[in-house]
Amino acid sequence: MTAAGPAASPKLPVALTPDPTVLVLFGVTGDLARRKLLPGLYHLAAAGLMPKRYQIVGTAPAESGMDQESFAAYVQDVLAHFGRRELSNRVWQPFSRRLRFVPSQPEKMQDLAQAVTEASAEIKAANRLIYLAVPPDAFSPMIKAIGKAKIATAASRLVIEKPFGHDLASARALNRALHRVFSEAQIYRIDHFLGKEAVQNILAIRFANGLFEAAWNREHVAYVQIDIPETLTIEGRAGFYEATGAFRDMVVTHLFQLLGFVAMEPPDHFDALSLQSTKRRVFLAMRPLDPARVVYGQYRGYRKEPGVAKDSTVETLVALEAWIDNPRWRGVPFYLRTGKAMARSALTVTLGFRDPPRHMFDRVAQQKLGESPNELVLELADPGQVHIPFLAKEPGPTMTLAEAALNFSYADSFQAANELEAYERLLHDIMLGDQTLFNGASAIERLWQVAAPVQANPPALLPYAQGSWGPKSVQQLVEPHRWHLGDD
Ligand code: BG6
Repeated sequence: MTAAGPAASPKLPVALTPDPTVLVLFGVTGDLARRKLLPGLYHLAAAGLMPKRYQIVGTAPAESGMDQESFAAYVQDVLAHFGRRELSNRVWQPFSRRLRFVPSQPEKMQDLAQAVTEASAEIKAANRLIYLAVPPDAFSPMIKAIGKAKIATAASRLVIEKPFGHDLASARALNRALHRVFSEAQIYRIDHFLGKEAVQNILAIRFANGLFEAAWNREHVAYVQIDIPETLTIEGRAGFYEATGAFRDMVVTHLFQLLGFVAMEPPDHFDALSLQSTKRRVFLAMRPLDPARVVYGQYRGYRKEPGVAKDSTVETLVALEAWIDNPRWRGVPFYLRTGKAMARSALTVTLGFRDPPRHMFDRVAQQKLGESPNELVLELADPGQVHIPFLAKEPGPTMTLAEAALNFSYADSFQAANELEAYERLLHDIMLGDQTLFNGASAIERLWQVAAPVQANPPALLPYAQGSWGPKSVQQLVEPHRWHLGDD
C-alpha cells in the first residue's frame, strides 16, 4: 500500500492561526517544559502556527534561581539541547522578544498576575493559556492560587498533565478543585499519546475505509492487543515513578485512551463533543478489571536504582485483560501490556481475526496455518506503519501457502512537511480552543472506577529480566493466542 503521492507543500488556512494569546507556563524550569513545551512552542513559531501576537510568561519558584535576565539564555540553551531543528535567527529573534520570566509560588502570585495583565494589554490579547507543568501534588494549591490572584479569566484555558488524581476519590477531589475556578470547557486534560499522528490515524483507517470498519467487531475480531513496551528504565525519575508505578503512569492513562480510540463507535462528527462522548461510552462499557487477570512485574535491578526504596513494591510492568461489554465487543478480550526495561520499544495495536474457513488447506500447509495469525498490526510509534501479514499461494504447480504482507509506512508515503510532534499538535489545538483530543472529567473518573479493583487488590509482583518480554505469566495471560510483539 502506498499513498497516492507526496502531499502538496503546505499552505496553511487562516483558521489554523490562533487568536492572540498570553501563555503562562508554570514549572518552566522543569523536565516537561524543557523537553517538550519550550521546543514545541519554538517549532510552532517556525512552522507559522503561533498566533500573530503572543507572549510567553514562564514561572517557577524563586528558589529555581531563574530570573528575567537569565531566562532567554536558558530557553536558548533548552532549544539547542532538545529542539527538533537548528536555531535560526529569523525565528529565534522574534521568539526571544516574547519571553518573560516572573517567579511565583502559590502564596505569592501577585507579581505574576501583574506581569500577565501587562502582557495581555501589550498585545491586546484576551486569551490565556495556563499550563501546569508541575508535580501532581502541586495541582490543587496552584489552581486555588491562580483563581485567587485572578490570573484565570473567562477567556483562559487551563492545561493539566496526568496523572489526574491517583484513584477515584482523588480524581473527584481534583475535578472539584478545578471546577471552583474553571468551567469544563476551559480545562484541557492532556494525554500526549492522543496527539501522535499515527494514533489519530486509527480513526482515519477505521472510519474512512469500508474494508476495515466492516471487520472491526466481535464477528471478525478474536482479540485486540495494545502493547507499549519500552527499553528505557526509570533512570532519573525515581521520585515520580515510586509514587506512580506503571499502572497509573501508563495504563489508566495512555493505554486506556488508546483503547477508547480503537473500540469507539463511529462518532457523528470529528469534533470535541462527538469524539469525547463516543470515547466515554467505551469507558462506560468497560468492565471493572479483574485483578486475577492482571500481571504486575518489576525488572531486576529496579530496587538498586538511585532513589528507589530497597524493598519497593512498585510495578514497572503491567499486562492485563480488559473487556468491553457492548454489542460490538462483547466476548473479545483486549490485552494491554506496558513495561520499562523490556526487549524493545514499540507502540503497537494488533487486531487478531477469527480463523477463516481454511481447513481445505490443512493438508498442504499445516505448518504455515498454525504459525501465521491473521492480524492487522498498527505500529503507532512515530512515524507509524500499518502491517497486514497474510497467506498467499506460492507460484508453482502445488497449492503451497507462503507468508506475504501489505505494508504502509508513513515515512515512505507522505511528505512530513506538516508533521507535528504530539505536544506541538496539542498545544496548537489548545490555542485554537479545540478540545477534540482531550478528556472530560467524567471520562477520567470512569477510568478510575474501572481500575479500582486492581488498586484495592493488586496482583503479586513478579520479577523479570531487563531486556525481556516480562514474566512468564504475561504470555500465559493471552493463551491460546500469542503477543504479536516478542513472538519470535
Ligand atoms: C509518559 C510516561 O507519559 O510517556 C513515561 O510518564 C513514558 O513513563 C512516556 O516513558 C512515553 O511517551 P513517548 O511519547 O516518549 O513514547
